[in-house]
Amino acid sequence: MYSKVELASEGGLLRKLVSPICFVVQALKMITLGIETSCDETALALIETRGSFGSGNLEYRVIASLIHSQAELHSNFGGVFPTLAKREHSRNLLPLLKKLISDAQNFLGKEKAVLSDHEIEKKMIGIRSKFGSSNSDLLDSFTDLNFLKIIPNIDRIAVTEGPGLEPALWVGISFAQILAEFWGYRGQTSVIPVNHMEGHVLGSLLSTDISIGQWQKLKPLNFPALALLISGGHTELVRIDLNQIKNSLKYSIIGQTKDDAVGEAFDKVARLLGLPYPGGPQLAKLAKEAREQGLVSTMKLPRPMINSGDLNFSFSGLKTAVLYAVRDEEKKNNSLSEKFKKELALEFEQSVKETLVSKLRQAIESVEAKAIIIGGGVSANQTLRQAFEILANEYNIPIYLPSIHVSGDNALMIALAGVLDQNNYNGKLKADGTKRLSNYS
Ligand code: KG4
Ligand code: ZN
Repeated sequence: MYSKVELASEGGLLRKLVSPICFVVQALKMITLGIETSCDETALALIETRGSFGSGNLEYRVIASLIHSQAELHSNFGGVFPTLAKREHSRNLLPLLKKLISDAQNFLGKEKAVLSDHEIEKKMIGIRSKFGSSNSDLLDSFTDLNFLKIIPNIDRIAVTEGPGLEPALWVGISFAQILAEFWGYRGQTSVIPVNHMEGHVLGSLLSTDISIGQWQKLKPLNFPALALLISGGHTELVRIDLNQIKNSLKYSIIGQTKDDAVGEAFDKVARLLGLPYPGGPQLAKLAKEAREQGLVSTMKLPRPMINSGDLNFSFSGLKTAVLYAVRDEEKKNNSLSEKFKKELALEFEQSVKETLVSKLRQAIESVEAKAIIIGGGVSANQTLRQAFEILANEYNIPIYLPSIHVSGDNALMIALAGVLDQNNYNGKLKADGTKRLSNYS
């Protein structure tokens, strides 16, 4: 078994060969570290996989998954502040890794090697000269060199390269490269760049039971599948097919927002009501209270682009309509009553629900979708989840929603995307803030 893992750890070399070899590599048991720093969550996860996705027998087990949220810090700014996010990721990654590896000890087994004092110092000098100029906060956190002497039994590192905030993305990428230098033992440890949005797609294929150490099967997909990705930065409808030759997924964006993302609209509307960032969950809570109290909204907000005849979205007009409603109310009553806020939250959520359901319905029909995937932070919204489930039942197609642990940003989904993406690895690492899901053809 040891030799198999070692073979996989030298996958950087093997991956350059033809695809049947890649298939063999995938069939081996491997441990992948996922790193996510695209926005305000610093997340690390370890996942072990065996089997192959293309043949429908990919199995995985979660070894550990940690998320450190910076949301409270950013709430003072009413949104994510990129340089603050960069600094916080830089400070938190190494302590988080130390905890992750300590939590994972029972699964990682014996280390690959232990570096001597001299070896670790030599590596540190090389790393400082290579990465020091733009990563001072990150390298300042490398104080516990004893912990870094132990090369854990981790085969590959998957890291988010985009989309997201570039200063934040670069921290994760640098961290991955630094770890690859530390852990490079008898050859390089591979670093695999991952698209954050592919992570959100795949996160929804994980079992809802995220029990540590339990082997599970990825949810099976029929093609073409359709994903609705709803997050703070994106609102996209994506057609997904299987690329049988490459043994990976093929994506094409068939609809997207022309302006604000749906999560962004939730956050902006919440802010207008005086709620702290991130406002989505707070607004959803208000809408829930409105329903429980039997409140009915007297105001009517637009259902944007519902009859546009295409699969695109627009949420900025909806946000502006809320702004006017809030201004009118303030003029009339000098302040916003709790009743007004709840009714507005209810109507806003209803508008988003009807808009998303209408576009999803049109997309199901145009693609003749055989499965639906919902992904991204907004998919934590219970009202939306129920509406999507009802729609999928109507068409009698399976729907995969993320469990709450993986609905927001996390590294488990990034590690999983790294497992599937290895055939697409192009050897280059560069933060790409506006990276799109593409066909990799
Ligand atoms: O995917 P995500 O964690 O980060 C990005 O990649 O953007 O999504 C975050 C977004 C935020 O806009 C947040 O307000 C929204 O997801 N969100 C929600 C809910 N939970 C999180 N929006 C509506 N209802 C929720 N329950
Ligand atoms: Zn996200």
